[in-house]
Amino acid sequence: MNQNSFVLKGTVCFSEDSNTIFISENAFLVCENGLSSGVFSVLPEEYRGLPIHDVGNRLIIPGLVDLHLHAPQYCYRGTGMDLELLEWLNTITFPQEAKYADLDYAGKAYSIFVDDLKKSATTRASIFATLHVEATELLMDLLEKSGLKTMVGKVNMDRNGSPALQEQSADASAADTMRWLQDIQGRYQNTRPILTPRFTPSCSDELMKQLSLIQKEYHLPVQSHLSENFSEIAWVKELCPQSRFYGDAYDMFGLFGGEGCPTIMAHCVHSSEEEITLMKKRGVYIAHCPQSNTDIASGIAPVRRYLDEGLHIGLGSDIAGGFSLSIFRAMADAIQVSKLRWRLLDDSLKPITLEEAFYMATLGGGSFFGKVGSFEKGYEFDAIVLDDENIRHPQPLTTRERLERLVYLSDERNITEKYVSGNRIL
Ligand code: GUN
Ligand code: FE
Repeated sequence: MNQNSFVLKGTVCFSEDSNTIFISENAFLVCENGLSSGVFSVLPEEYRGLPIHDVGNRLIIPGLVDLHLHAPQYCYRGTGMDLELLEWLNTITFPQEAKYADLDYAGKAYSIFVDDLKKSATTRASIFATLHVEATELLMDLLEKSGLKTMVGKVNMDRNGSPALQEQSADASAADTMRWLQDIQGRYQNTRPILTPRFTPSCSDELMKQLSLIQKEYHLPVQSHLSENFSEIAWVKELCPQSRFYGDAYDMFGLFGGEGCPTIMAHCVHSSEEEITLMKKRGVYIAHCPQSNTDIASGIAPVRRYLDEGLHIGLGSDIAGGFSLSIFRAMADAIQVSKLRWRLLDDSLKPITLEEAFYMATLGGGSFFGKVGSFEKGYEFDAIVLDDENIRHPQPLTTRERLERLVYLSDERNITEKYVSGNRIL
């Protein structure tokens, strides 16, 4: 047994499925070599030799998963929230991302981002960097040191950027991607590369072809954006007239899930029937980003439908479309916007429940990283310990009510411990 083997005693909660939260008070949660061995009300004989850390009545839940965010956008989050996507990209995002050509600036900004992510409830994240190779490697170095487990993408964009933020050609973009992948080979334990064509408007057909070859050669996962905004969707139709629908513009190049190509698509707010059918067939993960979809007025994704039809779905903060790094906040937002959608748009799609939001924030997104997001035996031991004493109340509360209040009312001060694969990082 190494130091990654121990027992946490406390009030344990995790998703069994999208409708069920397992709750056990005064429970023993066993970690062996970085993996969960399960939750027990009486500690089995075989684990009695392990050190026991009793957290009292604090809650112990799986670390939260952020399936979609942009690290270079962290430092200006909470500004420029009065524009829609395409204007927001051109006037705010692209000029900000261009600054990451300067490694000095990148070092300062990315240190702030990684510090804050480490202090958050998030243990796993899939992250967009910028098109800059050096700054992306700097971000990966910082994330590696944090102990978080992340996937990070050097962004590809060879068209429709700005003079300061666009790669010279498809060849130049592909060559920089190869240089990045070769540079980082063998360099990290916790930090993995993910292929990141920004979105169809940013990537020429020639670039998509080359990225598909790189994806196959390096067996990389893929992340991008899909059907976020009406003007974006119309533009993709113009740019890619041979595609049947937006998702097809990725699928034509073999960059849309399927065997050997795990894929996250952010948003899927306005996906067509055909697109939804193909996402399901290809096992594409949807990153639902309710705060971003509200801030830049993209709309409200039909999450009830995605859950009921069994599509893979997790939550994303989409910093800086979203202003909050908190996946607790994303859970609350997901519940709230689903109620507005139900009330105002389609009363056949019922609002999502606390159970479903918790599922998306843990197991739903976590499964993109393997056996992550649960405390069932064999899952990676990603956990946070939550102290809710400052959220005061005179009346008795059930554990479910305490968890619900933490979703709506907690911040990083409520997180007292954090573990990733059994390593304590907070
Ligand atoms: N689509 C292409 N780039 C972006 C981005 O940076 N943020 C969001 N929300 N959507 C995008
Ligand atoms: Fe995004």
